[in-house]
Amino acid sequence: MVPHKSGRIARQAHVDLPQGTFEEEHGRQGFFGHVSHLYRTHAPTNWARINGPLQPHAYDLNMATATAAERPQPFLGNLDVRLWIYSPTKPMPHFARNADGDECWFIHEGKGLLETDYGPLKYRKGDYLVVPRGTTYRFYPEGAGQFYLLIESMSELSIPDRGQLGRNAFYDPGVIEIPEAKPSTAPATAGKEWEVVIKRENEFTSVFYPHNPLDVEGWKGDLFSWRLNIEDIRPIVSPRYHLPPSVHTTLIADGFVLCTFAPRPAETEDPKAMRVPFFHTNIEYDEVIFYHDGDFFSRTNIKPGMVTFHPQGIHHGPHPKALENQLKKEYLQEYAVMIDTYRPLKPFELAKKSEVAAYKDSWKTT
Ligand SMILES: [Fe+2]
Repeated sequence: MVPHKSGRIARQAHVDLPQGTFEEEHGRQGFFGHVSHLYRTHAPTNWARINGPLQPHAYDLNMATATAAERPQPFLGNLDVRLWIYSPTKPMPHFARNADGDECWFIHEGKGLLETDYGPLKYRKGDYLVVPRGTTYRFYPEGAGQFYLLIESMSELSIPDRGQLGRNAFYDPGVIEIPEAKPSTAPATAGKEWEVVIKRENEFTSVFYPHNPLDVEGWKGDLFSWRLNIEDIRPIVSPRYHLPPSVHTTLIADGFVLCTFAPRPAETEDPKAMRVPFFHTNIEYDEVIFYHDGDFFSRTNIKPGMVTFHPQGIHHGPHPKALENQLKKEYLQEYAVMIDTYRPLKPFELAKKSEVAAYKDSWKTT
């Protein structure tokens, strides 16, 4: 497929942009569909002002952890995926089971033990814990400062096909930890009873047992809870070309993908290659990034525990300072979790309360 060309353009996307231009990628289906690159004389994020509901958002979830101490609280969601935070200060007083969807927990801060039907998993900072729909579990956090991100998926979470890269690229599925069967010894939660709180259609039902319900002596099969640490992720990079964020895809489900940005070298082998993401409106996808750790090069005033939310239809891209300094950057020391959703996301009260109002004007050059 040879592209049509008109006017001043770069021969190769993201490399050697015409003098004084800003490159926008206008593409379909994330980074896989029809696409054109537009070479503009102004950054498309250089708006004077915005009137109306469509605008980029940033949320400082560090301000909201106290409200998520007792039970997880949602901040963004649609029919396919819901994003929550949980900041427990003590072990869960009951078992939990999600009858709505799969759960992927990202341990932003903290450590502890997660008991599940399939056995216990010890967890630590930077872990993804995948708990399939219908699994009974319980968190036992250790120490203060726990802060977890929950990605709740209404369809089954799975590991993507790596195509030409082969099945061991990005992370080898062999690094995944699968628990060994071990019945729970947790004492009764309410008198002589053990409580399981089941979530179904976002309503909660308590079922009480006269015995500990995590009583699995053994299991076999290809459905189970599992753990992956972010340090076991080996980013895919090119020394001469800025690859699209889709190369960082960690998990997929119907209606969204989950990607992980991990420390990686910049595109240092060609001084004309862009080292920052190109401008785009991500038409057809809403884009959420949860900042976990490190130095977030393409954004200023973003710190760990914050979230940016770029809805489809309005541009985003690197901040002016990042664009200006891109050639100085040889290594990106950043950890972040990205959730790209096909259907638009709606903010919950918690997001509105944590909104960083100045964010929509953060690309301003003057
Ligand atoms: Fe983006």
